[in-house]
Amino acid sequence: MIMAEPDVDYVAFFDKNKEIITQAGNFQNNLGLPASDDPKIVLTDRHRRIYNVSRPIYDDTRKVAGYIAAGFPTMSYHKALEDDKRNIVVTWGLALLTVLIASYFILGRIIRPLEKVKTAMMKIGDGDLTEIIPVSSRDEIGVIARECNAMAMKLAQTYHNLSDVNQKLTEINERKSEFLSTAAHDLRTPLTLIGGFAETLSNKNLNLSGAQKDKYLDIIASETKKMAKFISDYLDITKIENGMHLPVMAKINPEAVAREAAAEFDFESAKVIFAIRSEPAVAKVTADGEMLERVLRNLIDNALKYAPQNTAVTLEITRRGRDTVFSVSDSGMGIPDDLKEKIFEKFFSANRVNAPKKQGTGLGLAIVRSIVQLHGGTIHVEDNPPRGSRFVFTIPDIK
Ligand SMILES: Nc1ncnc2c1ncn2[C@@H]1O[C@H](COP(=O)(O)OP(=O)(O)OP(=O)(O)O)[C@@H](O)[C@H]1O
Ligand SMILES: [Mg+2]
Repeated sequence: MIMAEPDVDYVAFFDKNKEIITQAGNFQNNLGLPASDDPKIVLTDRHRRIYNVSRPIYDDTRKVAGYIAAGFPTMSYHKALEDDKRNIVVTWGLALLTVLIASYFILGRIIRPLEKVKTAMMKIGDGDLTEIIPVSSRDEIGVIARECNAMAMKLAQTYHNLSDVNQKLTEINERKSEFLSTAAHDLRTPLTLIGGFAETLSNKNLNLSGAQKDKYLDIIASETKKMAKFISDYLDITKIENGMHLPVMAKINPEAVAREAAAEFDFESAKVIFAIRSEPAVAKVTADGEMLERVLRNLIDNALKYAPQNTAVTLEITRRGRDTVFSVSDSGMGIPDDLKEKIFEKFFSANRVNAPKKQGTGLGLAIVRSIVQLHGGTIHVEDNPPRGSRFVFTIPDIK
């Protein structure tokens, strides 16, 4: 600001030729008069910073009679001007800095989270559904981030469900083709036999005897039975594996179940000495009676297939800790160590080559293992020295 009443540095009078007549104050000759008569303010001395103001003096005839000049020190004016300038520069600088800092923070607050959202969305777009946007603010960007996170979670869940369904469909498909190829293979032999004998029977030119006809009919009946067993065994294991056939647990007498299972076999004509040995401590076991009977039937059936005549097949029931332990042992051909696990797989038959007549569908032990596992037990096969095998499985007590 210019000071309201500046001090006067000098006052000087000049004649009409602009020669100094007199002066009061600090007028210096070298300051001179303004070049023109025009009474405007001129900065005359840069060092002392004085404004020299001059005006003409007129006589009565309105002619210039001389000049008067006055000097005003302008330090305070300049200082004020400089101060003003500095203040303006500082104020504007500060304002600009404030605007820049504010913009940095405001834009940062908007752009950085948006960058995070963009990066996460790109990752999600590339299929990485585990990406979580690390934005927790409560503003609109926070809302967008939370919505994106929720969307990614939903997508991940849907993707997970679809993968599960897809895997199940693949498994079902694999089972279907497994069933079709095994069924085609295992049903071909009985079907060929049935077809062949049915054709023979219907051939009037052959004049078959009654005994011959009966024999052929027996073969047809037994092959049909084999096919029916294969199909029902296959359906059963599928149901058990898919959890569609759950055990109906009840307290049962294991020895009574073992006797029921054994009652189906004709040990006398097989010339096998069969015995059940049960520890007196094993009075009751909690299990599905029908399923347990099926397990024992399958194991006795196998033992009988391989037990040589006049040897023993023994079913033992004992207690071990919290388990009821069942074992079926025979003195047959035994099972090589490398097949002791494999024989429990579906359709596995170790004797297709060396004992083709004894071969079944290879589902018996697979069903046995699924049932034992459904009860929370385990099964394995071990050698029965000096010869044969012993199948051992457990049914644990229910807690
Ligand atoms: N006691 C045993 N002694 C020797 N080998 C056995 C005995 N039990 C099972 N095996 C072998 O394990 C294979 C699988 O048995 P599994 O009971 O699953 O099928 P399978 O008896 O051939 O047919 P299925 O029981 O379905 O009629 C048998 O084919 C046989 O090679
Ligand atoms: Mg079997």
